[in-house]
Amino acid sequence: MSRFRNRSVLSIRDMDREDLTEVMEVTGQVKSGMHGSFLEGSTIALLFFEPSTRTRLSFESAVLQRGGRVVGFGSPEASSQSKGETFVDTIRTVTGYCDAMVIRHPVEGSARLASEVASVPVVNAGDGANQHPTQTFLDLFTIREQLGDIDGLHVGMMGDLKYGRTVHSLATALRLFGAEITLISPPTLRMPAHILAELTAAGIRCREIEQPEEAGRNLDVLYITRIQRERFGDPQEYESVAHCYRVTASTIDALGGKVRVMHPLPRVDEIAEEVDRMPNAIYFEQAHNGIPTRQALLGLVMGGLAHD
Ligand code: CP
Repeated sequence: MSRFRNRSVLSIRDMDREDLTEVMEVTGQVKSGMHGSFLEGSTIALLFFEPSTRTRLSFESAVLQRGGRVVGFGSPEASSQSKGETFVDTIRTVTGYCDAMVIRHPVEGSARLASEVASVPVVNAGDGANQHPTQTFLDLFTIREQLGDIDGLHVGMMGDLKYGRTVHSLATALRLFGAEITLISPPTLRMPAHILAELTAAGIRCREIEQPEEAGRNLDVLYITRIQRERFGDPQEYESVAHCYRVTASTIDALGGKVRVMHPLPRVDEIAEEVDRMPNAIYFEQAHNGIPTRQALLGLVMGGLAHD
């Protein structure tokens, strides 16, 4: 039986290397067309209290393609939260309407709170600046698909490392694969100290710099995040760092020319469009891997898929 059967998926911190490997392997099977309508009979609730394009639509498409059904809403205004209902009451209600729920919420810890109230598995689709575990599953799958392996790679993470939940989850995962990590950010947007401490405790070689060109010429992956405007309390503080990075063809050349460029998207202006036409750019393939990854995860959680 899968390690994910009936399990809530809340944080990469709750997982070990075998868990992450299981999701990647089953994602590979799903992508290669090995499985059929393994979500038939399942109703998945998609509760998005914060905007989303990729996560919500790829979950929805993933479920429908595999014979399941979806219910839910794409913004809090479309739910009875707009009439004053509490988050906990919403979860207590929706748990009776579905077999699993996928939640995005601006408040850190919301998915975990929901899992304590719900009688069905909860999948965290992003909670504030904390975690985005299903993004990390698809990021790891994409890295392995592109580079063959994850162990020992040199990964640069650049941009808003303070508020970017995708880089928090990814860094937490990479500590299990012995990657070397270079963190590139303005001083005010550095990776939180508790995540740096986890990386150090795991023996990860990790350094912090301010400009991508300082990373040298042996980065395997440059993972870029936008500056997360919605997490800043002070608009002036946001403006002071809003346009601090723009990756161009020259940046890629300075990094040795072979680096794979990843981004969870949406991008604002941190990657020039000329990069889209370069073989280094894999961010749209990355986004499209959201479908097999989320199908694999839901199949394992719901029991329609197993891991050998
Ligand atoms: N990568 C990601 O989470 O994108 P969305 O905000 O569009 O879901």
